[in-house]
Amino acid sequence: SRPFTEVALFSVSSYACQRRTTLDNHNSNLTDALSLLAENAELSNEDGRGVAFRRAAALLKALPTQVISMSQLRGLPCLGEHSLRVIKDVLENGVSSEVESTKQSKRYKALKILTGIFGVGAKTADRWIREGIYNLEQLRDSGQTLNRAQKAGLEHYDDLNEPVTKAEADAIGEIVQKAVNSVLPGSEVALTGGFRRGKLTGHDVDFLITHPEEGKEVGLMPKVVAWLESQKTTRNSYLESKDGPARPASNMDRFERCFSIFKLTKRKEQETASHKIWRAVRVDLVVSPISQFAFAVLGWTGSKLFERELRRWAGHEKNMSLSSHALFDNTQNKYLRATSEEEIFAYLGLEYIPPSERNA
Ligand code: GTP
Ligand code: MN
Ligand code: MN
Repeated sequence: SRPFTEVALFSVSSYACQRRTTLDNHNSNLTDALSLLAENAELSNEDGRGVAFRRAAALLKALPTQVISMSQLRGLPCLGEHSLRVIKDVLENGVSSEVESTKQSKRYKALKILTGIFGVGAKTADRWIREGIYNLEQLRDSGQTLNRAQKAGLEHYDDLNEPVTKAEADAIGEIVQKAVNSVLPGSEVALTGGFRRGKLTGHDVDFLITHPEEGKEVGLMPKVVAWLESQKTTRNSYLESKDGPARPASNMDRFERCFSIFKLTKRKEQETASHKIWRAVRVDLVVSPISQFAFAVLGWTGSKLFERELRRWAGHEKNMSLSSHALFDNTQNKYLRATSEEEIFAYLGLEYIPPSERNA
């Protein structure tokens, strides 16, 4: 045996968009702990703290081996004092006391349950908690007014909190493809989000829709939704949406988009004891003009932290502004056109990172 324990020292970039982060995570014991604290911070409107935990978790996801000692972390970026304390606790005791007490807390449990309802965000959940509502039963009994999306979210709660499989994502993809081709032949559908990054399950399925002829895509979303809704009597159809075409587009994002719920008929082998032959699945649909398609694909593939880091890199290191629509060079005072993700990385002076390595 060797006289000394070998302790690998890592060298890692401080920007997640300069790292190759696959789904092969050697430090899930640490990243699970940090992700839970990030989630708790985000649910409590402490975004700064949330990002700090996310960045620490993302750094650990990019390490090539399992961390077994604090000394291996010396000199690494993205690890703040608080994150280091959590990591130390997990390495020494197997669990983090802060994570354990958060998990047990009445407030965290309630936030998890309530924001698990489609259409319910941290703000609404917080208001309900202050009114003494901690679970679904109390919500149902409270007589709170729910909007259409929230009603559907409550009705399909169990389905929507069950992870979507790749097979289900593919089945939904076929339905979307059929709907889009029926209302506008020649349109193209691209899978984005976690499934494009190679994830085997997801909380939803994300699609980006475009047409090779600029302008043809205008007004496409309401037509797609109407087509899906007209399939009510068929095996697969459309159940509900929020921020959909019925509402004015939010100014946060100028795409036509629809955060929706689909009804997906189960394949024979997936039928369960409950005899339910279909399930509800969350689906995000986004329409983009072809001129912005590369930026939209990049922006909707994620991960969320990878996207955030790309924008931070663009702004801080390149004096550019990146969005899901365009890249603006503030020095040259002009938009930079691109037809592929590779071109966008090149403008940003970054090595190209394929989707499967954007799992930061
Ligand atoms: P799971 O769905 O949990 O499997 O992971 P995911 O990575 O697919 O997450 P999600 O579906 O929430 O988001 C997918 C991508 O869409 C991420 O890159 C997000 O940054 C992006 N995204 C989500 N919401 C918005 C939005 O409102 N505007 C824009 N521009 N992008 C968004
Ligand atoms: Mn997704
Ligand atoms: Mn999504």
